[in-house]
Amino acid sequence: MKKHQPKPVLFILAFIILSSHSVLSLDFFFNGFNSTNLFLYGIAQIDSRILTLTNETSFAIGRALYSSKIPTKTPNSSHVLPFSTSFIFSMAPSRNKDTLPGHGLVFIFTPNTGINGTTASQNLGLFNLSNNGDPTNHVFGVEFDVFANQEFDDIDDNHVGIDINSLTSTTSHTAGYYSDFNEDGDQGFEKLKLNNGKNYQVWIDYEDSVINVTMAPVGVKRPKRPLLNVPLNLSDVLEDEMYVGFTSSTGRLVQSHRILSWSFSNSNFSLNERLITTGLPSFVIPKTPFHKRRSFIAGVTVGSFVILVLIALFSLFLIKRERRRAKERAEMEDWEFEYWPHRMTYQEIDAATKGFSDDNVIGFGGNGKVYKGVLPGGIEIAVKRISHENDGMKEFLAEISSLGRLKHRSLVGLKGWCKKEKGSFMLIYDYMENGSLDKRVYYDCDETNILTCEERIRILKDVASALLYLHEGWEAKVLHRDIKASNVLLDKDMNGRLGDFGLARMHGHSQVATTTRVVGTVGYLAPEVVRNGRASTQTDVFGFGVLILEVMCGRRPIEHGKPPLVDWVWQLMMQGELLTVVDARLKGNEGFNEEEVKKVLHLGLLCSYPNPDSRPTMRQVVIVFEGKNEGLESETEDMEAHLLAKVKSRDMWANYSQNFGYASHPTFDDIRQSNSSSMSLSWNNTIVDGR
Ligand SMILES: Nc1ncnc2c1ncn2[C@@H]1O[C@H](COP(=O)(O)OP(=O)(O)O)[C@@H](O)[C@H]1O
Ligand SMILES: *[C@@H]1O[C@H](CO)[C@@H](O)[C@H](O)[C@H]1NC(C)=O
Ligand SMILES: *[C@@H]1O[C@H](CO)[C@@H](O)[C@H](O)[C@H]1NC(C)=O
Ligand SMILES: *[C@@H]1O[C@H](CO)[C@@H](O)[C@H](O)[C@H]1NC(C)=O
Ligand SMILES: *[C@@H]1O[C@H](CO)[C@@H](O)[C@H](O)[C@H]1NC(C)=O
Ligand SMILES: *[C@@H]1O[C@H](CO)[C@@H](O)[C@H](O)[C@H]1NC(C)=O
Ligand SMILES: *[C@@H]1O[C@H](CO)[C@@H](O)[C@H](O)[C@H]1NC(C)=O
Ligand SMILES: *[C@@H]1O[C@H](CO)[C@@H](O)[C@H](O)[C@H]1NC(C)=O
Ligand SMILES: *[C@@H]1O[C@H](CO)[C@@H](O)[C@H](O)[C@H]1NC(C)=O
Repeated sequence: MKKHQPKPVLFILAFIILSSHSVLSLDFFFNGFNSTNLFLYGIAQIDSRILTLTNETSFAIGRALYSSKIPTKTPNSSHVLPFSTSFIFSMAPSRNKDTLPGHGLVFIFTPNTGINGTTASQNLGLFNLSNNGDPTNHVFGVEFDVFANQEFDDIDDNHVGIDINSLTSTTSHTAGYYSDFNEDGDQGFEKLKLNNGKNYQVWIDYEDSVINVTMAPVGVKRPKRPLLNVPLNLSDVLEDEMYVGFTSSTGRLVQSHRILSWSFSNSNFSLNERLITTGLPSFVIPKTPFHKRRSFIAGVTVGSFVILVLIALFSLFLIKRERRRAKERAEMEDWEFEYWPHRMTYQEIDAATKGFSDDNVIGFGGNGKVYKGVLPGGIEIAVKRISHENDGMKEFLAEISSLGRLKHRSLVGLKGWCKKEKGSFMLIYDYMENGSLDKRVYYDCDETNILTCEERIRILKDVASALLYLHEGWEAKVLHRDIKASNVLLDKDMNGRLGDFGLARMHGHSQVATTTRVVGTVGYLAPEVVRNGRASTQTDVFGFGVLILEVMCGRRPIEHGKPPLVDWVWQLMMQGELLTVVDARLKGNEGFNEEEVKKVLHLGLLCSYPNPDSRPTMRQVVIVFEGKNEGLESETEDMEAHLLAKVKSRDMWANYSQNFGYASHPTFDDIRQSNSSSMSLSWNNTIVDGR
């Protein structure tokens, strides 16, 4: 730029222009970075000339700032200098398909170096819980956010927003660009997915209190119409000199955030054109083509016979897997993003439940009242207080996060959670219009609510499929531990939905559950739980068996002055009078099918069999329930025959009570006397282990 001029006057003139400019202007462009260009914080690093803000490390922040402050205002005035910047970024999700991608990156102006006062995850390494929204932050940012945070009013999980001192954007728009079809340049909005690994170029221009943000895939000519074009006076936000750069973060959700090149100028707006947009590396995750497998290639050399066998087996496997997946897909809802459990603020919940008004109480649970609430937008929720130990908070939250990912049409969806201060912790569930099953099956329930035989069996099927999903349908084995009629809820279409997995704990599929913390409800507790305190899938099956019997018989598992439900049903079966146990009101019902009812009762008895090894698995239960369909005829018949043979086996039932101190399942006294435990009863018969 500087050329020596022989004439002193010109030289002095040039010097004056240059130096007056040098106070107020700064231009740079980087087609690739080196460590002298930037200050790096958190896990940001420069790797083969690419700025990697975050890799796939979880709960991390990456920040990079230009290595000196830049002038942003005419000193001691309100005049903000115009600026223009452009950069190319890529956000790539993890190769690990089980990890959801998050959280996004922000182009920032900040008065400080470092990452003090910022946290990861949804806070994007920009602010923390206490300084978010504070006008003394003096931070201006343009966020590229791939997660919809309700607490920040995010519009979707793929948006560009303007952030002034706060993560709640003043303006935002779904990511994309307006393609230039004609001179007006305002046709056709093309949506762009921010985190698919592709390289995108962004242009941010500010002049005369107007900001424009434009983006396009690298290689596409800069669109004429900006994505965001909003009036914005940065005079009170920016200080005279600011650091400029990028910040980004990961949480439980991870992805890599990269910046490939960057130009910035507050004098020469044509600098942006110097960014090189060709020959850039690509971070798009390739789809693994399975025909390239090594076994396939080896097979060719070994011989065609082997290939044929392999192909046959392989395609059989694929077909089976596809079928299974298609079935699972049909059952799963779109849990991926929208339903991730969010933290909700206490204020939100307070407003939704009209200040926890008594009018909104819909039930009483083990830990207190259950409230109905309505979120803005008319979404109905059920709010439930739960108790927890404070020191286990982190683990507990991790567990909640996992539980939120459990989605099944027969599970009550977990919407979010809320923590006020110490001690007050709430879970927010989908609201179930028709309340809980216990209000609709017992002989002393309101007559108008009573369910028909068909409805009861259908609801039991729903619960069985939900339990099977918990036991086998997910990456970790989940035990429910507290199956009972009051935990089965009915949605607006009277479908049964299993609720309250607050008590569930997860176990890797392979390992045996060894936790000794017993929780459950008297009457549904399997004998072995009282003996050794171990919960397992079989103890859930036991609880489900009791549920079947109570729903079909219309009486509670334990009632004063009557034999325990399971014993009673068992005795009548032995006397050949099984059908006398059935709720009398069902017998007149249309569609009352004796064979079907007998089958269900047998199933209930078998599930609540004292010896855990003799109980069927939930998979077997579901197969029997589903009956003959989906090409499983032979399997189902075998299973039914097998189970019925068991039921009819005299030996099995003759031994019923011999090996146990108590007949079928433990009563209050058995639990009080059990010296192997330190369990105590709470007011609603829930059992808690005090250890
Ligand atoms: N999601 C929900 N929708 C509607 N009602 C609910 C919901 N969750 C709980 N309830 C009501 O609150 C009552 C108590 O809830 P429950 O889950 O049994 O608590 P706990 O398991 O702590 O004893 C239920 O019987 C039901 O009437
Ligand atoms: C780093 O980049 C700057 C300009 O971008 C250049 O002047 C400097 O020589 C580079 N340093 C190294 C070590 O490559
Ligand atoms: C991520 O980067 C950090 C350093 O910035 C490094 O220690 C870590 O091994 C990297 N992790 C992965 C998964 O690449
Ligand atoms: C701006 O104001 C401060 C104090 O108010 C003063 O010290 C400084 O010299 C002023 N700068 C200019 C360029 O006027
Ligand atoms: C950030 O905080 C740490 C510890 O609280 C402190 O040592 C460090 O100096 C701070 N850095 C800056 C830039 O304020
Ligand atoms: C947020 O950061 C500020 C400044 O470092 C700190 O004083 C405050 O305690 C932090 N708040 C939280 C909730 O971490
Ligand atoms: C912002 O975009 C509008 C509309 O395309 C344009 O008229 C204006 O000049 C742009 N402003 C800046 C600072 O680029
Ligand atoms: C921007 O705001 C400042 C102070 O709030 C004001 O002095 C200035 O005139 C405003 N600029 C424009 C262009 O409106
Ligand atoms: C602005 O940048 C362009 C492109 O790099 C360059 O050709 C031009 O000389 C620059 N103008 C000034 C005033 O620096």
